[in-house]
Amino acid sequence: MTVSSDPWWRSAVVYQVYPRSFADGSGDGVGDLAGLRERLPYLAALGVDAIWINPWYVSPQADGGYDVADYRAIDPDFGTLAEAETLITEAHGLGVKIILDIVPNHTSDQHPWFRAALAAAPGSAERGRYVFRPGRGRGGAEPPTNWRSSFSGSAWTRVTEPDGTPGEWYLHLFTPEQPDLNWQDPGVVQEFEEILRFWFDRGVDGFRIDVAHGLVKDQQFPDLPADLEPTTAPPYEHRHPAWDQDGVHEIYRRWRRLCDSYAEPRILISEAWVFDPERLARYTRADELHQTFNFNFLMAPWEAAAMRKIIDDTLRAFAAVGAPATWVLSNHDMIRHLTRYGRPPGQELAQVGTVPVDLELGTRRARAAALLLLALPGGAYVYQGDELGLWEIEDIPNERLRDPIWQRSGHQRRGRDGCRVPLPWSGSEPPFGFSSGDPWLPQPQSWRSLTAEAQTGDPASMLTLYREALRLRRDHPALGDGTLTWLPAPPDVLAFSRDPGFTCILNQSSDPIDLPSHTDLLLSSSPLPNATTLPPDHAAWLRTS
Ligand code: GLC
Repeated sequence: MTVSSDPWWRSAVVYQVYPRSFADGSGDGVGDLAGLRERLPYLAALGVDAIWINPWYVSPQADGGYDVADYRAIDPDFGTLAEAETLITEAHGLGVKIILDIVPNHTSDQHPWFRAALAAAPGSAERGRYVFRPGRGRGGAEPPTNWRSSFSGSAWTRVTEPDGTPGEWYLHLFTPEQPDLNWQDPGVVQEFEEILRFWFDRGVDGFRIDVAHGLVKDQQFPDLPADLEPTTAPPYEHRHPAWDQDGVHEIYRRWRRLCDSYAEPRILISEAWVFDPERLARYTRADELHQTFNFNFLMAPWEAAAMRKIIDDTLRAFAAVGAPATWVLSNHDMIRHLTRYGRPPGQELAQVGTVPVDLELGTRRARAAALLLLALPGGAYVYQGDELGLWEIEDIPNERLRDPIWQRSGHQRRGRDGCRVPLPWSGSEPPFGFSSGDPWLPQPQSWRSLTAEAQTGDPASMLTLYREALRLRRDHPALGDGTLTWLPAPPDVLAFSRDPGFTCILNQSSDPIDLPSHTDLLLSSSPLPNATTLPPDHAAWLRTS
């Protein structure tokens, strides 16, 4: 097959590295590039095709690096540009591609552009790069619209003008330290194309686009429709004047042309919180992005009918635009799936620390979910620690919490630190080989049995399950890109076949079921009691010819 008819990304398994929490080579308790470089062989042995690295750029870290002050330099916490270049070369040497994270919706308030905007006058070209508007009401004392920040509070902050008077307001859909850029400004458009090129020229294979559905705002700046106003969380979709506006697609068409101009075309994946499958699939039309995250699947309850509907809707919508689906269970923003699946039904997505969790049940289901994830048609994303069976840490002491959501919500929402706790690599005590210093977030003693070292070679471990599943996926012609056919199955059971000769079955009912006819058991999420039975919360991969 030619490269263009079978590009690598259509079937790829991408491993997400949250660099602050992956591995610390310098001993300051913060993960870094030195640590990541040391662990590249681990990732190659795991069998992933690529890694996606969360933002590693110079940043005051008001939001875990999603507040970028210099897009062309590495944050000193993480290392240097020279180290980044070496890392790219080393990863390629091991057959692992590198995907970076681009943050085009907003910069840091410490970015030279924003500092210049604050120093300049209303109406200036410097302010034109951001979204500055006069306030409403007497003396402009009210925000320009009623939009809310995703992290609580108004999405607008008022500035003091250089002459000391209260002045305009600027938009920040996230923290005030993350001012939104104005994508109507040609200079902004040009700058990001140059940033993409800067990294592509250093061998980077692609980008994950942060808040990809947010770049273009309705230029009328209307208030939210009345029924959306109280909502601070998705689903907002395109009814919100800042989300999923049609204008974003023009940006991605330009970026796609840039990607395709390289001899080895680069790829783009969007983080777009868009829940209507047809609207989401628009991001992956043939002349736009390659992939987009499927958050409907990530947020689905442990329930066969709900999952099957999402799988069907996804496959239909993406097939219509000729794009592969992607599947993901966890990331650095969401409660780890092992914990979600161990919570009482209906409470899977409740705030951290508010509902009980059965970790044994969650682990059993997470094992089964891994086999579902890796058997579905298309690409898959694995968040660091999924392969170790890590759960959400819900009891981080308040004074150690770092996520801006904790402060911004007036200590109502604990935020996302619980899925960002540094990985346990080895040994029997924190910091478990993550660092020689004190990790930036505390690790629980209970992770002692989950270190990569403890799990390596243990046939019953989550790590062995992932390694085995990834090996089979790589070798089996039915897996990766393609289609599936649902098989008749009892209620609460997902069973589908893929050609040639492969069946995946997941039992989400509370009773054991009979395995469908097969020639071999390729892999089961846990050992089966006998050759014909699949217990509840188990999954199996079968050879059928
Ligand atoms: C994305 C990131 C998240 C960040 C936000 C603002 O949702 O995944 O971590 O806080 O964008 O950049």
